[in-house]
Amino acid sequence: MGQSVLTRSGFTRTASGELRCEGVSLEAIAQAVGTPTYVYSSRAIRDQYDALDQTLSPVPHRLHYSMKANSNLAVLRLLQQRGAGVDIVSGGEMYRARQAGFSADSLVFSGVGKSPQELREALRAGILLFNVESLFELEQLNEIASEMMVRAPVALRVNPEVQVDTPHHYTRTGERGSKFGIPIDEALDAARRALQMPNIALRGLDMHIGSQVFQLEPYRDGLVRLLELYDEMRALGATEIRYLDIGGGFAVSYDDEQPMDLDALAAALLPKIRESGLSLIVEPGRYIVGNAGVLLARVMHRKKAGGKEYIITDAGMNDLVRPSHYDAYHAVEAVHARDTRSIVDVVGPVCESGDFFALDREVDDVAGGDLIVVRTTGAYGYVMSFNYNSRPRVAEVLVDGDRFAVVTRRENYEDLVRLEPQQLEWRTD
Ligand code: LLP
Repeated sequence: MGQSVLTRSGFTRTASGELRCEGVSLEAIAQAVGTPTYVYSSRAIRDQYDALDQTLSPVPHRLHYSMKANSNLAVLRLLQQRGAGVDIVSGGEMYRARQAGFSADSLVFSGVGKSPQELREALRAGILLFNVESLFELEQLNEIASEMMVRAPVALRVNPEVQVDTPHHYTRTGERGSKFGIPIDEALDAARRALQMPNIALRGLDMHIGSQVFQLEPYRDGLVRLLELYDEMRALGATEIRYLDIGGGFAVSYDDEQPMDLDALAAALLPKIRESGLSLIVEPGRYIVGNAGVLLARVMHRKKAGGKEYIITDAGMNDLVRPSHYDAYHAVEAVHARDTRSIVDVVGPVCESGDFFALDREVDDVAGGDLIVVRTTGAYGYVMSFNYNSRPRVAEVLVDGDRFAVVTRRENYEDLVRLEPQQLEWRTD
């Protein structure tokens, strides 16, 4: 795979063929922390953030990192220090964001099913915007805000019903019939209702069309639809709308494909946004952290069976579920480059045939004991991991220059049972 496309990833190979993260040897991390371990490059995260921020600089904008992609506190703090806001989708994410030092007014709250308790907590905290996805949510928010004697700042998340092409249909959200957002032909009515509600302040319009989107057309088409709605809403008397949120979804490169062309996206969108006088909000997750991380694992052994060859690693689908869940491509490389390669399946130790990272792939000839990395796992890696087969969740390490720190310790066996009481407290109704 092309090395050049990953220049922003923070991972480079030395002349002797060793893969390093910034100034730190992955071998040293494996020795100190064990494997499997997620390793992230601070520099890569900062570079992506800065590049996007710079691209959007011609218009007033706010960059709200979608923390579902990687919600580690150290990663959040790094972005907070850069001036980012966050996009949250649960009370738990709000808690994490506050722990990481984000002020309440740097949070936007998305999600198709927010509980009354989550709405209350976010209102109490004083977040910047609720991205409201249904009339039901609007009414519920108005009611809770009225009990609390506050006005809830709202952006209506509209489903613009555009054609979106992503590698997997699970990650398309802006097509007709999706569970997300208010269908576009009901959006004006929702605005009318919002304007009548005393405890709702209609501050914005929002869309999020999907994840790992390469084309700019769906953004452009969606934006045009949102701007038409904005005009119609103003005609209805909406005077407080100031934000236009185009969501996240900007694609990164997993193989040798070109990532989202941000300059082209900016050229297509920014003039229209400037003309509208609105402030732009973006909610990228993967674009900021995807290429900044690898899953570092050790090869346990190789095995031949039925004419196939397997490389069995100590990481499994519970540590990184994307290949199994979305049939997603992730490059697999040896930490110490090998001269020869063979066609193998790279699999984990979990008792499922769906436990794989690569199928029928030409991979470096690694042997038992060697280190490998599964690349582009900074987004939707650790956050989607789980304990199946009672496997402790792995460690996360952040690298900064020539230093590294454990930012999540590896779970141990006690962690696996800590929520389960030894003595049962039986109750009756
Ligand atoms: N905003 C909203 C409302 C979202 O639902 C999402 C992602 C984002 C922003 C950020 O999208 P991004 O920039 O990261 O593409 N687990 C899947 C991706 C699911 C994305 C869900 N929503 C994966 O591993 O590919």
